[in-house]
Amino acid sequence: MIQQEQMKVVHHKQIADDIFELTLIGQLSLAMKQPGQFVHIRVADAYEPSLRRPISIAEIDHDAMQFKMIYRAGGLGTNLLSKKKVGDEVDVLGPLGNGFPVEEALPGSTALLVGGGIGVPPLYELAKRLNERGVKTIHVLGFQSQANVFYEDKFKALGETFIVTADGTYGYKGFVTDVISEVEPVFDIFYSCGPMPMLGALEKAIPDKKGFLSFEERMGCGIGACYACVCDTTDGDYKKVCADGPVFPRGVVVL
Ligand code: FES
Repeated sequence: MIQQEQMKVVHHKQIADDIFELTLIGQLSLAMKQPGQFVHIRVADAYEPSLRRPISIAEIDHDAMQFKMIYRAGGLGTNLLSKKKVGDEVDVLGPLGNGFPVEEALPGSTALLVGGGIGVPPLYELAKRLNERGVKTIHVLGFQSQANVFYEDKFKALGETFIVTADGTYGYKGFVTDVISEVEPVFDIFYSCGPMPMLGALEKAIPDKKGFLSFEERMGCGIGACYACVCDTTDGDYKKVCADGPVFPRGVVVL
């Protein structure tokens, strides 16, 4: 059930260029069920514009009643958010959307997880859940440059991990699809989150496997009421990324 809560900051740190990891505590974390869901954040400062910011959930800890989110600072709202200190409160609406279907990967099978930039964080909770289920995970994580890389060790602790940077300053050089064609990982199913061009290239590069894609779209309300996030579907209709997604099976959204 969607809730709204003033959640308290328990940790907040910068983990890469312009990238921050924020841990919040509160009842709302108990409602988070699926990896790939997101929250809508409003920074309650006087200068904050009224619109919320959608931010994906990177890790859920029900026992501690906490969750982690990783975001890129840059706009007015996220810059203000980056100033929040331990003990401050953040206005959170969530959990929102339909996340990654973990149950689609069978125990004993292998899943390929492909993330680009700020699309990497939701794959971390997904990788944890899949491993708990007995699914082996292989991770291909793309970043712009070495300074933008985060969570490499955390993903490595869960499975084989390939890092790729667009400028070649760290790991493989190029795009996530370049690494996939070079190392030819063997897997049964794939999950991905990242910018639209990356998802499109990935769908083409993996023509024959079951897959689920999480879309990053501009949002207004985040709850299916404003139509700011609609995308075209292959059957000539449309879907709302916030309420119908953000995760869709491959082939549903026009890429
Ligand atoms: Fe308003 Fe999706 S953001 S309908």
